[in-house]
Amino acid sequence: MRLYGFTSIGDPDVYTISHRHLTHSVRKPLSLRIQNAFITKDIHIEMMEKKFKRTTVTSALPYANGPVHIGHLAGVYVPADIYVRYLRLKKEDVIFIGGSDEHGVPITIRARKEGVTPQDIVDRYHSLIKQSFEEFGISFDVYSRTTSKVHHKTASDFFKTLHDKGEFIEKTSMQYYDEEAKTFLADRYITGECPHCHSEGAYGDQCEKCGTSLSPTELINPKSAISGSKPVMRETTHWYLPLDKHEAWLRQWILEDHKEWRPNVYGQCKSWLDMGLQPRAVSRDLDWGIPVPVKDAEGKVLYVWFDAPIGYISNTKELLPDSWEKWWKDPETRLVHFIGKDNIVFHCIVFPAMLKAEGSFILPDNVPANEFLNLEGDKISTSRNWAVWLHEYLADFPGKQDVLRYVLTANAPETKDNDFTWKDFQARNNNELVAVYGNFVNRALQLTKKYFDCVVPPAGELTDYDRETLKEFSDVKLEVEKLLDVFKFRDAQKEAMNLARIGNKYLADTEPWKLAKTDMPRVGTILNISLQLVANLAIAFDPFLPFSSERLRKMLNMDSFDWANLGHTDLLPAGHQLAEPELLFEKIEDNVIEAQVQKLLDTKKANEEANYKANPIRPNIEFDDFMKLDIRVGTVLECQKVPKADKLLQFKIADGLENRTIVSGIAQHYSPEELVGKQVCFIANLAPRKLKGIVSEGMILSAENFDGSLSVVTTMKEVKPGSEVK
Ligand code: MF3
Ligand code: ZN
Repeated sequence: MRLYGFTSIGDPDVYTISHRHLTHSVRKPLSLRIQNAFITKDIHIEMMEKKFKRTTVTSALPYANGPVHIGHLAGVYVPADIYVRYLRLKKEDVIFIGGSDEHGVPITIRARKEGVTPQDIVDRYHSLIKQSFEEFGISFDVYSRTTSKVHHKTASDFFKTLHDKGEFIEKTSMQYYDEEAKTFLADRYITGECPHCHSEGAYGDQCEKCGTSLSPTELINPKSAISGSKPVMRETTHWYLPLDKHEAWLRQWILEDHKEWRPNVYGQCKSWLDMGLQPRAVSRDLDWGIPVPVKDAEGKVLYVWFDAPIGYISNTKELLPDSWEKWWKDPETRLVHFIGKDNIVFHCIVFPAMLKAEGSFILPDNVPANEFLNLEGDKISTSRNWAVWLHEYLADFPGKQDVLRYVLTANAPETKDNDFTWKDFQARNNNELVAVYGNFVNRALQLTKKYFDCVVPPAGELTDYDRETLKEFSDVKLEVEKLLDVFKFRDAQKEAMNLARIGNKYLADTEPWKLAKTDMPRVGTILNISLQLVANLAIAFDPFLPFSSERLRKMLNMDSFDWANLGHTDLLPAGHQLAEPELLFEKIEDNVIEAQVQKLLDTKKANEEANYKANPIRPNIEFDDFMKLDIRVGTVLECQKVPKADKLLQFKIADGLENRTIVSGIAQHYSPEELVGKQVCFIANLAPRKLKGIVSEGMILSAENFDGSLSVVTTMKEVKPGSEVK
């Protein structure tokens, strides 16, 4: 389920500008701190003023039909985990709910392809996914699944309640039915000839060749993907959640009461609400899922997007069978959903409408959705194997979970899509984790070992510089908190790394190794201070880099961490025994990175070859055939989205003679603003055809990249509209 083209409103970073104190000499060279001076201060205060007793944190339930990759981690699970670890460190009451989403059509398709049952598929991937999360330290309190008994009962009861309260409407429509397999056919289960590009094998919801979104009835010569037989139309009845009835309170609740939501989330909601909400079917004709619990509903199951979010509730029940209700029904509980941007409408509009209709649940207080992470410039794709899979990463980089966590947070797609590259991964490891954080910790610990036999020395009299350095640290707690409270994880992590920079600079400036012969007490003071800084770093980084902080905790011989101690400069008393120091991070060499890049290049090559094979050059044609085609250049005068068609753009094109209207299926690749004023090439003599009620007079030419992305064809120099392309 992907929705594109919603533009976010406003600049995410500027609500209120609060200038920070930037006087200290250590801070001045750090340009990062200046960026962080722009903090959403009002929002922070507003959010913290709402007093909540506890927090329920959920993270999107991944579909159990494939392994998880870095995009999942960066978009949802690492930020959620940072947030939860932070709250736990503050000793707040929090639960962290996860699980696998195990229903839906794609799982049944995959099972059919492999000749196994859907249960086999979800069993396989549920375990794999669960294990990957564990290995990366995603600290769920429960990770269950939507095929669990508890969930089936919870979702079923939920539907029943809404049904009995009259919260659904029933609608009858005509749908394709496979008489041989005796089943209604989901859109994806019907294939046929595309009415637009006439290629074979288009699906009932989309032609993957030309990208046009279809409804099954548009297909020419439709065939059932199950039996191969010709499907027939049959009447079917489904239950719909009348979202239109909920529109008024949703508008108030989101657009007025939750202006503090991230601009990308708020903007997408506004765009949905402004288009007007429609009733949504909450059941499907399918034999995989939770049976619709009412009379005469044989062969019908709950729509996967109806049951999946209820999974958060079911999994809470599984965790806390006796006290789950306070986590979902007490207004003093704060509910936060971590998701990717393709899930926004379900978590901000549909699920809240379900909860409200039920009547006894709280609504989410915030939904910090992320944009997407790309890999080396291309969209991550499971089918093209364009991903860094977590289980493969772990095999290649054993013990380096924190490195990936660090890099993904440093590049978190919080306000826009972002890119993961192996070069950047190496640079952040070598230049930040190793050279800054690891280096400071290692120097402080090694010097203590060398001069004081791993025992914390007492601090003597402090110099002004010592005091200023300690002051830097005492401020940091508030800074990091401010950022974490508003879900700005990348800035918060940057702030923590800046602490390590301060520590490094302190050692470089004070040079204790030069004083060892002349002034041991002073060396003791410097190292005492440095060790306090190290202990602070261990706490500050704990939500982000839990494995490293745990190792550091052991090296420092501390019992536990407490966020309240952050900023304190007496965490390690004089005389405290430290353990033997080890390196926290190690350099990653070029050849290791080159191997990863090569792996991706191989994937790319294989994809290109497969693509070429799937699209071989067509048979030769005569010159006359070519001449039948009239290709022209036109200038885009106007461009807009076609309502209720997420793939279509409507153009007004200056074609030299008059203006013409063309509808083109490229809305997922361009926003209208990008195209206005540009010159495009189009087929000028294609017979007009109707798309979503609009007569399209021609076709705009685009090149299709092997990854399915489209690039509109234009000319190298500007020409007069109407110029022929030959
Ligand atoms: N499985 C969905 C996806 O990967 C997310 C489901 S989130 C839940 O897009 F709320 F429905 F659980
Ligand atoms: Zn097509």
